[in-house]
Amino acid sequence: MARETFPGAQEWVPDRPTLPRLQEAAQTCRGCDLYRDATQAVMGAGDPDAPLMLLGEQPGDREDREGEPFVGPAGRVLDDALAEAGIDPAHVFTTNAVKHFRHHTAGKRRIHDSPKSAHVAACAPWLRAELALVRPRGVVVLGGTAGKALYGSSFKVGEARGERRPWPERYAVGDPPAWVLATIHPSAVLRAGEERAAAYAGLVADLRVAASLLADSA
Ligand code: URA
Ligand code: SF4
Repeated sequence: MARETFPGAQEWVPDRPTLPRLQEAAQTCRGCDLYRDATQAVMGAGDPDAPLMLLGEQPGDREDREGEPFVGPAGRVLDDALAEAGIDPAHVFTTNAVKHFRHHTAGKRRIHDSPKSAHVAACAPWLRAELALVRPRGVVVLGGTAGKALYGSSFKVGEARGERRPWPERYAVGDPPAWVLATIHPSAVLRAGEERAAAYAGLVADLRVAASLLADSA
C-alpha cells in the first residue's frame, strides 16, 4: 500500500502568529484529511505563559464539539491527577499532537481512531507554533502518540515514562523546553479496568516528578 502523504499544515500557519490567530487560522487548515469529518480544529488552551505544556494525542468527541482540549472524561482524570500531584491545572497549557478528531461512526456513536503518523507529521506546524509562543520550561507527554510526535516511531511510553528526558533534537524549535517527561495517557487510566487505581496512581506519581522538575527550574 502506498504511504499516505499530506500537504501538511505549514501553509495555513500565519506569518505573525499569536495564540488567537492560530486558533482562527487552524479552522481553515486542509493540511491532511482529518478536517473533513470533524466539527472544528481544537487548538491548545490554558495559561499562555504556562511553565508547563501538557501534550495529548488529539481531541476526543467532547473536545471536537466544544472546541477545547481535555474537556471530556480524560480531562477530568487529568485535572484530578494534576491537582493531586500539586500542579495547578489553571497554570498549564494543554494541547494535542493532532488538532482534528479522527474517528469513525457506529450508529450514532463516534468512535476514536488513533491518528496515523502521517497525520501527526502533517499537523506538527501547529504544535511548533504553539511551542514557540508559549515557550514552556517543561513538556509532559501524555501517551504514545504524543511521544512518537516528538521522539519518532520507536518511542514506547512504557519504557520512557517517569524520567526527565532531553528535548528531542529531531524536533527543532527556536527555544526548546529544558525537559520532557512522559507518562500514560489519562484515557488509558479510564480503560484500565481492574487496574484503574494503580494506573491512576502511576499517572499521579509521574506528574509529581514533573512538579519537582518545575520547582527546580523555577
Ligand atoms: N484525549 C486527548 O489526547 N486530548 C484531548 O484533548 C482529549 C482526549
Ligand atoms: Fe490541519 Fe492538523 Fe486538522 Fe490535519 S489534523 S487538517 S493538519 S489542523
